[in-house]
Amino acid sequence: MSYRVQVITVSDKGSRGERVDTSGPAIKNMLEKDFAVGDIIIVPDEVDVIAGAMIKAIDKEGVDLVVTTGGTGLSARDVTPEATRAIIERDLPGFAEIMRTESYRITPRAIISRAICGIRRRSIIINLPGSEKAAVECLGFVIDAIPHALAKLQGDPSDCGV
Ligand code: MTE
Repeated sequence: MSYRVQVITVSDKGSRGERVDTSGPAIKNMLEKDFAVGDIIIVPDEVDVIAGAMIKAIDKEGVDLVVTTGGTGLSARDVTPEATRAIIERDLPGFAEIMRTESYRITPRAIISRAICGIRRRSIIINLPGSEKAAVECLGFVIDAIPHALAKLQGDPSDCGV
């Protein structure tokens, strides 16, 4: 059985229908090779709304993985990391560390993203930057580690051989 994923696009303009969301579909396309991905949700850059969408996906719908795109930068409306931090129970720093480190080889602007990753219940949350290019690049650096991370989080007792 595939792990279940909720993609959440965080964008004021996208949520108002003033911008076509290309990042969400691009991420969904990447994830669909290995995961069961539901319909993309588009929410405005509001802490409560973002956090509420993540809680609903995890606590009510029981998805294994939430992937957000957008709202990780420095503008006043970029609050996805704050919403994520408010609802995670444990940090998962390695994912964001690798995303920024590898992305920096592509563009020095990668250090601008404040994306964080963490754990709530038996689920993992991963923030990605907002542009399609950045989101696809960042997810590409970590996607192969996700199934094993979820397996360990959800109780796989086996030894971690390479
Ligand atoms: N990471 C990668 N891999 N590629 C990129 O082009 N763009 C950066 C950064 N991370 C980028 C990237 C830029 S320019 C910004 S402003 C931040 O992500 C934050 O993006 P966001 O506010 O859309 O989330």
